[in-house]
Amino acid sequence: MTKISPVSTLSAAPVSALQPLVEVENLTVKFVSREATVNAVNGVSFVINPGEVLCIIGESGSGKSVTMRALMRLLPMNKTRIGGHMRVGEHEILKLTDRQLSTIRGSTISMIFQEPMTALDPVYTIGHQIAETVVRHEGCSYADGMKRALELLEFVKVPSAERRLKAFPHELSGGLRQRAMIAMALSCRPSLLLADEPTTALDATVQIQVLVLLRKLQVDMGMSMIFVTHDLGVAAQIADRVAVMYAGRIIESGPVKDVLMNPQHPYTRGMLASSVHSATRGEDIEAIPGSPPDMRRLSSGCAFAPRCAYADDACRAAIPPETVPGPGRTVCCFKAGATALAS
Ligand SMILES: Nc1ncnc2c1ncn2[C@@H]1O[C@H](COP(=O)(O)OP(=O)(O)OP(=O)(O)O)[C@@H](O)[C@H]1O
Ligand code: SF4
Ligand SMILES: [Mg+2]
Repeated sequence: MTKISPVSTLSAAPVSALQPLVEVENLTVKFVSREATVNAVNGVSFVINPGEVLCIIGESGSGKSVTMRALMRLLPMNKTRIGGHMRVGEHEILKLTDRQLSTIRGSTISMIFQEPMTALDPVYTIGHQIAETVVRHEGCSYADGMKRALELLEFVKVPSAERRLKAFPHELSGGLRQRAMIAMALSCRPSLLLADEPTTALDATVQIQVLVLLRKLQVDMGMSMIFVTHDLGVAAQIADRVAVMYAGRIIESGPVKDVLMNPQHPYTRGMLASSVHSATRGEDIEAIPGSPPDMRRLSSGCAFAPRCAYADDACRAAIPPETVPGPGRTVCCFKAGATALAS
């Protein structure tokens, strides 16, 4: 039986500092049924360096969760067609066998969700669930797994951790449940944490506490993270870099400060305008008129054209290619940076 290391030494498993931890190249995901094909992800590429946080932002239906689930291969395989290339550490995600996949889920890549009950089982105590995960991945004894579970709950700042170990998920508040899920996700020192809107369901104060905690754990463990959110304010707090998704594509990306201070794409500008308005006036406005496209029928031009004040015939005829407006930045818009957009 393996001897377990103390939680004070918990850090992401070592990765090469010489190359990105994550490389996603031209990822496509289609859901195929007899009635229709949903083009959920349409050529997404990004890299994430060790210890870096990438925030994916975008409206509902833009393909954020499908991109995350593709990285974990958590999509219904019978009706999903995945194309492109994904590498995490030394693992080629699309080439892994089911057995290899279940080994790397948790130990290399972990995921936390908006709703903790997606990951927690209502019929087992928190302590048992974390201990079982540790035993499965580290091959230690159940008693050592329990010891690690207690340390982990303390690590994610759950008060009275010893008592909470014996609690069932429904006996905890939303914020504590979220911390328990984070503890479980971190239990096997993942190199990459996927966080899909993990704070959206929490009230504002708890949301900030969980965000601050996540950022601290990520830095302390030297882990990389992909954090999905609708909220640009959250992205500003937690991200090193952002990728803005629209209709299954990344339409703008770059270092978080550069993108938020100087957005180049009309869609990013619209999102920012609406977020600044709601922050200063305390109300939501629809800064971008219209609604996202039907992913079953994407046009051959720029998917944003029907909602874009700057659209012309060229925009409707072809998909704008990716250009590089500055160091570490990308944008897909025929008129990116044009003075017309600045006003
Ligand atoms: N299992 C599925 N079968 C068919 N279509 C799906 C499936 N899962 C997602 N989709 C479709 O794929 C598109 C992208 O969905 P996704 O869940 O990634 O959006 P999202 O950006 O995460 O949105 P939200 O912010 O609401 O969570 C949507 O059109 C959605 O309806
Ligand atoms: S390519 Fe044209 S339609 Fe698309 S965002 Fe840019 S200006 Fe608007
Ligand atoms: Mg989602």
